[in-house]
Amino acid sequence: TKMKLLCITTLLLVSQVTTQNTRYDGHEVLKIFPKTTNEASYVLNMVQKYGLDVWHVHHNDSSLDVKIWPTISSTVKQDLTNTRIPFFTWIKDIQSLIDQQFAPITSHVNKRATQQFMFTVYHSFAQIEAYVASLSQDTGTGPSGDSIYSSNAVIGYTEENRQIHLVKISKPSNQAKKAIFVDGGIHAREWISPAFVLYLIDQLKYNPDQLQSVEDLVDTYDWYIVPVLNPDGYSYSFASDRLWRKNRRTNSGTSCHGVDLNRNFGYQWNPAIGGSTSACSDVFSGVSAFSEAESKAIRDYFANSNADFISYLTVHSYGQMWLYPWGYTSALPNDYVDLDAAGNTARDAIRTRFNTRYTVGSSTNVLYSAAGGSDDYAKGGAGIKYSYTLELRDTGRYGFVLPESSIIPTCQETMDGVIAFANDLKVLP
Ligand code: ARG
Ligand code: ZN
Repeated sequence: TKMKLLCITTLLLVSQVTTQNTRYDGHEVLKIFPKTTNEASYVLNMVQKYGLDVWHVHHNDSSLDVKIWPTISSTVKQDLTNTRIPFFTWIKDIQSLIDQQFAPITSHVNKRATQQFMFTVYHSFAQIEAYVASLSQDTGTGPSGDSIYSSNAVIGYTEENRQIHLVKISKPSNQAKKAIFVDGGIHAREWISPAFVLYLIDQLKYNPDQLQSVEDLVDTYDWYIVPVLNPDGYSYSFASDRLWRKNRRTNSGTSCHGVDLNRNFGYQWNPAIGGSTSACSDVFSGVSAFSEAESKAIRDYFANSNADFISYLTVHSYGQMWLYPWGYTSALPNDYVDLDAAGNTARDAIRTRFNTRYTVGSSTNVLYSAAGGSDDYAKGGAGIKYSYTLELRDTGRYGFVLPESSIIPTCQETMDGVIAFANDLKVLP
């Protein structure tokens, strides 16, 4: 049977190779996300006009996979950009995929399957998942020419059965590296948070500007990144309530949904400090510490991971702050001088590009006290020294509803901060 199978396979290979006169060099598959019925008919018109091949329609995220070819590529993309319909290149070169069916996968150097992912717009969770999935298709390259790898994992499932994705980005090395953990989207409405975290993934893996300072980040550290820790809440903020904050937990004895995940972490958990015992409150702490799948996922990941985490960054908005523990008390950690120094380095770097001013300090002292935050747990519970909450733009002009035109500048300046911060950790204790 083995021989038989081999023969059949060989036959198939031969017939495929020999009958393929039509080549698909430079043909792409775009993943297009019309958001309204108007946009959907625009896309369908375009499909008719050019006679495009619709490969697939996804009912989960109402996106379309549409094949295009080189001579119309730029026109189609320009049309989509002008009408503000999100899309990205799902497959960059169909021919190379066809060729790779038969060849061992050698190098994907300098190819980015997801090159066209738009960092200039906010994405639904389904779109983010598609992007995360696409990351597994290739490797990135830094200015040194070295490959940069990523791998995906699922670290938990939400009540509505969404996956909590974790992306690891690393460069092989025979030396043990310290690790940095980053999460976004703990709070649903803070859309700039996942937007930045995705930008960070893109920078680390593909280094689009080929900056040595960015390659240094993967030379020195392994990165563990959760783009959206609260996908149920994030999805709800897209579908139903732009200003939703909590997860979507079905609370017992009430029709009010949700637990504030940043009050639910189990280090000095206390609803009386900046939280609430009322399920209808926006800062409901939950019925007990780590009652929620999302906070548990982080706890368990830290407990089971072999990585040597030196830093935990949880990305929120807004307020332009780089906060360190504690949130449960106005007392400062013993090593607060180190945390303050690294925070100041980040603040100074952030200011250089657009003069955006950040505040650095302990969250109780520069914001308000609130127990059960993930930053307090990362430091006090998981023992990760450099634990911070980042509050990105702005300071209230748009608040949570930060316009899309601010995404790129916010990402750029925050990246400046992360680069300088990570560098500083090398010299700090
Ligand atoms: N805006 C965040 C919140 O209210 C700040 C969290 C700061 N950290 C803390 N442990 N309180 O959740
Ligand atoms: Zn927040």
